[in-house]
This record gives sequence, structure tokens and C-alpha cells, in this order.
Amino acid sequence: MAARSAIAAVGMNYRHAYHAGNFADCFKHALLADLVDAFARKPTPYFVLDTHAGVGRYDLEDDAARRTGEADAGIRRLLASQPAPLRRYLDLVRSLGLYPGSPTLIRALMRPAGANLAGERHGRCHTVMPGAGPASTPCDAEPDKGVDGGPSAAMTTGADRRARPPKSAPMLMRPADRLACCELHPEDVIPLRRLFHHDPQVEVHFRSGWDALKALLPPREKRGLVFIDPPFESQDEFAVVTEGLKRGHSRFSHGVFAAWYPIKQRAAVRGFHANLKMTGIRDIIAIELYLRAPTNAERLNGCGLLVINPPYRFAEQGQAIADAVLRGLGQDESGAGVDVIRIADE
Ligand SMILES: C[S@@+](CC[C@H](N)C(=O)[O-])C[C@H]1O[C@@H](n2cnc3c(N)ncnc32)[C@H](O)[C@@H]1O
Repeated sequence: MAARSAIAAVGMNYRHAYHAGNFADCFKHALLADLVDAFARKPTPYFVLDTHAGVGRYDLEDDAARRTGEADAGIRRLLASQPAPLRRYLDLVRSLGLYPGSPTLIRALMRPAGANLAGERHGRCHTVMPGAGPASTPCDAEPDKGVDGGPSAAMTTGADRRARPPKSAPMLMRPADRLACCELHPEDVIPLRRLFHHDPQVEVHFRSGWDALKALLPPREKRGLVFIDPPFESQDEFAVVTEGLKRGHSRFSHGVFAAWYPIKQRAAVRGFHANLKMTGIRDIIAIELYLRAPTNAERLNGCGLLVINPPYRFAEQGQAIADAVLRGLGQDESGAGVDVIRIADE
């Protein structure tokens, strides 16, 4: 009890388990999958920093998820309708068993260590090869109940998911893609650590993601994605994100940065964009999804993903993904729509 109030005292009340699988999660994860995929187009290894990782995966049948029912109006509806631009993301969600949070999703898209540069053969893992179609390379785990209640490959531990090289090991090995995740909630970091225990491609840090933007950048891989998904618990979170992006970008200016943000009222968001423009950082876009006109400050009326150095054609693909999320989950409310905004030119 004392521990809980101490956590609350430092402003860490947010628990993602209540919101996992809601429309905002589907929007950000479908776009995140597209961003990670873009890195796999080149053979050289990449690094992903997930600054606000959460617990890694979520049981949508547990009390927290059932209490809000947000996943019913989110991921469960999308899985039932399977809109084409989301098929890859949805196949991945289904293949992973328990509903994947950002670190699990990123990890599933990473290529295993030691893959053959020429042939890119896979061992026993969920990892998907670029352009390999649906993300369901099955592992030999027991079947489990999937997010939509249907059968799916069980989510395995990091150790199980490590690729095993084929018997005749290829000569051309390359360094592995790498993920570092940060989680500051002392309860949430425990399952996250457990999930990736023994996984040599994943580091879990019990530290602030804002500090990690300095401490863990630039990565040795030279190319990478920084995914920033804060809880937006405090009033000044937009300013904190702007500062974080400035700090991260100053250390890793050619990295791709993606930051999720909530949209309650438009003014706060436009102020955020204006402040970002004033940082002088080049090549920034935002993809925004509105369920309704952003007039009621008490509601999550929409959300956005801000991307610095977006990959080639990400704006078009992102628009198609956001449109599909809105078609699948929107209720035809007035003011609903998708916007792609260029905040700073290349
Ligand atoms: C929106 S949730 C993240 C969800 C996760 N990115 C996903 O998509 O599955 C935000 C998380 O950030 C954690 N958190 C809050 N402040 C943090 C900080 N300064 N550094 C790292 N994690 C933090 C919270 O405990 C929470 O688990």
C-alpha cells in the first residue's frame, strides 16, 4: 500500500493494461509496425529505442481490460473486419497470442541474430522477413487462445523466440537488430524484464525514457527508430516531448523519431506543432486520426503520431493505415477524419 502511494506520489498512476487494444493503441501500433518494417528493407542492422515500453504484452481478458472494454471497441473489431491496409499488423497481433504492446511488436519484426545475409533463413521464431507477407511464421509452441479468442501461436519467451541457425550454419552472418526498452514503473518493469530475459537482442532498462534519449543515443548501429509513447499524465507533457525530441535529435539527427500524442482539443496540438517547428528540426510530419471534432477536453477525441525523418512513402502508407483504423473503428461522428500534416520541410 505504501509502495503504491509512493508510486502515485511520483506521478505514475497510468497503467496501460486499462487501455491496451483501444483505438489509439491500434493506430500507433499499426504505424509502428510500418516504421519498423521500413528498416528491414536494408540488410544492415538497426536499433530501436522504446522509451515508454509498458509491460510488453496484455491479457485482454483480465480485470483491467474488461473494466474499460476499450479493446472491444478497438483491436477486437479490427480483427473481425481485417481491413486490407492493416492486414500485416493484424496478422502479427493474431500470431502473437497475448495482445502485444510496443516492445513485443517491435521484437517480433526484428530479424534474428546471425541470419544469412544472402538467404535470410529463419529459425524457430515469430520474426517476419521484409516483404514476406503475413506475419505468422509459426513457432512450435502449443496453440493458445488469441486476442480474438481464436487459436494462435502461443507467445513465447525471449529465449524461445531466439532464432536457431540452420544445421549447416551460413558463412555470412550479420550483427543482430537490437531493441532497448525503458519502463519507469517499478511494477511494470518486472514482467517486461521477465518477457525478454535471455533474449540477447533486447535490453530492458528500469530508467526514465527521457534520460535514455541522452544515455542510449546515438546507437552503434548508426540507423534506428526512437519510439516515444508517454502516458500524458502531466499538464506539461507536450513540452516534455518537445524537449525530449530536441535532446534525442541533437544526438542522433538522422534517426527516425516517432512520438504518439493524444488529441483532446486542437489548440494544445497546434501549439505542440508550432513549438516543434521552432526547434529547427527538419523533415517532420504528423499523422492524426480524429474520432470526432476535438472540442470536449474531457475526452480522447483522437490522437496523432509525429514522425521526424519519416521513411520513404511513410506519409502515404500512414494515411492509408489511419484511414483503415478510422473506417474500422469510427462511429461516423461529426468531425471524424484523418490528417497528414507537414510540420517541417526536408
Ligand atoms: C502509454 S504507456 C506505453 C505503452 C507501450 N508503449 C505500448 O505501446 O504498448 C506509457 C508507459 O510509460 C511508463 N512511464 C511513465 N513515465 C515514464 C518515464 N519517464 N520513462 C519510462 N517509462 C515511463 C508508464 O509506466 C507506462 O507503462
